[in-house]
Amino acid sequence: METALTALESSTLSRIREAVTAEALEAVRVEVLGRKGQLAAVSRDMGKLTPEERARVGKLLNTVKTSVEAALEARRAEFEAQALALRLDAEWLDMTVPAGGTRPGALHPVSRIQQEIEDLFHSLGFTILDGPEVEDEYHNFDALNIPPDHPARDMQDTFWLEGGLLLRTHTSPVQVRGMERLGPPLRMIAPGRVFRNESVDASHEHTFYQVEGMMIDRDVSVANLIFFMTTLLTAVFKRQVTVRLRPGFFPFVEPGFELDIRCLICAGEGCPVCKHSGWVELLPCGLVNPRVLQASGIDSEQWGGFAFGLGLTRLVMMRYAIDDIRWLQSGDLRFLEQFA
Ligand code: DAH
Repeated sequence: METALTALESSTLSRIREAVTAEALEAVRVEVLGRKGQLAAVSRDMGKLTPEERARVGKLLNTVKTSVEAALEARRAEFEAQALALRLDAEWLDMTVPAGGTRPGALHPVSRIQQEIEDLFHSLGFTILDGPEVEDEYHNFDALNIPPDHPARDMQDTFWLEGGLLLRTHTSPVQVRGMERLGPPLRMIAPGRVFRNESVDASHEHTFYQVEGMMIDRDVSVANLIFFMTTLLTAVFKRQVTVRLRPGFFPFVEPGFELDIRCLICAGEGCPVCKHSGWVELLPCGLVNPRVLQASGIDSEQWGGFAFGLGLTRLVMMRYAIDDIRWLQSGDLRFLEQFA
C-alpha cells in the first residue's frame, strides 16, 4: 500500500508539472484529491490494516496529500504569472516613440471671410449687429416695405413657423432692428444665416450666409455707396476690382442697384464663370427708401442712407473657386482640411 501511495505521488506530481491548462490541472485535482478520488479510496481501505500499519500509512497519506496540494498551488501560480505576462505584453507601450502627426483645426471659409469683413467695417466705424434667425413678419417684410402680395412672401420661399413667425429669408430685418435700437446716424453691418425654402442643388441651399450693411447720415449719396462697396471688394479679393451699377428692384431701396464686378477669372474677356459677359453679379444695394426710414421712426427729410445685402456664401465660393454650394455645409473633412 505504501509503495502504491509513493508511486501515485510521483505520477501525480509529474502530471501536475505537465498540465498546460487550468482545466487539466483541475481534472488532476479532482481525480486525486476529490471526495471520490484516489487518496480518498486509500483512506477508505485503511480500515483493513493493523493499527501500526494504519499509523504509518496514515502519516504517509498526509504527506502525499500535502505535497500534491503544494504542487497544484505552485502550478496554478505559474499559470497566473503567465497570463499576467501575456497581458502586459499586449498592453505594452513604448513611451519613447514620437507621437503621430497632429491634425490642426481651421476656421470654416465662411467664418474666415466673415471675420475679415467684420474687421474691415469695424475699422470704418461700423457696428457689428446680430439679429434673431427666427423673425416676425413685421421685421422680415412689412418694415422693409415688402407688401403682402410681393413674390418674396410666397410660401415657396419662406419657411413659416407657428404664430406668424418665420425663419428670416435675408439679413435685412437687422437693418430695421438697428434703426429701432440705435437711431441715426448709423453705420452697421449684420452678418448671419438666412433660410429659403428652395430645392437644393449645386448653386442653391436652403441655408446660406449674407452680410447686411447700412449707413445713415446726412447727405449720403450713391458716390458714398460706391466708395464703400469698392473698398469692401478690394479688401476681400485683395486686388483692385472694377465695379459697375445696374438698376435693380428691391422694395426697401430707391434707387436700387445690382453691383457687378469685372470677372476676376478672365479680367472681363468672357469665360464660363461670368457666362461670357465679363461681369459677375455680386451685390444688391441702393439708397434706403424713405418709407423704410419712416417705418422705423427716422425723419427722412433729415436723414438718408445706403444699404447693401452681400451674398457671403457666394463671395466665399468665388474667392476659393468652390463649384458646389453643398460642400460648405457638408462637414466633409476632405473639404475642410484644405483651409488649415
Ligand atoms: N435682402 C435682399 C435679399 O436677400 C438683398 C438686399 C438687396 C439687401 C438690396 C439690401 C439691399 O440691403 O439694399 O435678396
